Amino acid sequence: MKVVYPHKFNSMSARDILKKVVEERELHLATLNRYRYNEQRSCKDLTEVIERLNGQPQALVKDLSRHVSDEARHAMWLTDLLIDLGADIGKPPGVSYIDEFERLLDQEVYDTQTNLEDGIISALVAINVTEKRGCEYFAAHIHALKQAPQTEENIKIRQTIEKIFPEETGHVRWGNGWLAQIAKKSPEHRKKVEQAKFKYAAIEQAAFESGMDIMAGAELRRLNNLLEVSNTMPLWERPQYLLQRLPQTLVSPELQMTRIQVANKAWQRDPQAFVEKFVPMFFNGLNNIHRQQKSK
Ligand SMILES: [Fe+2]
Ligand SMILES: [Fe+2]
Repeated sequence: MKVVYPHKFNSMSARDILKKVVEERELHLATLNRYRYNEQRSCKDLTEVIERLNGQPQALVKDLSRHVSDEARHAMWLTDLLIDLGADIGKPPGVSYIDEFERLLDQEVYDTQTNLEDGIISALVAINVTEKRGCEYFAAHIHALKQAPQTEENIKIRQTIEKIFPEETGHVRWGNGWLAQIAKKSPEHRKKVEQAKFKYAAIEQAAFESGMDIMAGAELRRLNNLLEVSNTMPLWERPQYLLQRLPQTLVSPELQMTRIQVANKAWQRDPQAFVEKFVPMFFNGLNNIHRQQKSK
């Protein structure tokens, strides 16, 4: 059976992204608050699946009830951590990964009432693909925190994520197990599971790109255009030109996303650090795109 893994975003791996995230406190705390929100929200979504199943199959309802309790515990740990660190625990601003994921879901197929088995396959695959993304990010986050300065805060954050991570890999294994069992029933079942995996991997990728990440296509394109313009200028004029226009390019009012608000705060606090830490993130993304284009 083919395994579908989440794609990289603009060729930046989760490790590349988290390495930058842990260097910038504001962005780091905002990322943790995103995790908190997603964990909390998944309790609600899993409960909805339980309600739709309406008691059958019992083994699945039983597993899902444990799953809700795991996710609630993760949300609790992250909430405690953020309060401890004096960070915000409000609803993260901007496009939410989970909202976007749900918006892209085909509700008719996902509806367990229409066809119980198809609904179960869809629900399990949808859960599985988002859990895989979570695992990828938590693993990268732990790795980044091991490389980062061992401050009391960084250690606390790492310890919290290290508690959550093994349970998330357990959830992925659990989903894989259920799906393998269903696929074993017949070639038709296997085909259904395979199709669902590809479909939900694509949905998850789209949701991820629009909501979760610290970079977005829109800003990248805007920055790309700005760089194209600056490349036409003499070298010594470029920094001044870029510095004057970067905030407007990255902090556009119509792009109300977390990363933009975080970038805005970072810019106001320390313009130099902004240029040194944030801008390379965007440049790296662009360089990767250029490299990709050249290799085609
Ligand atoms: Fe979780
Ligand atoms: Fe989970």
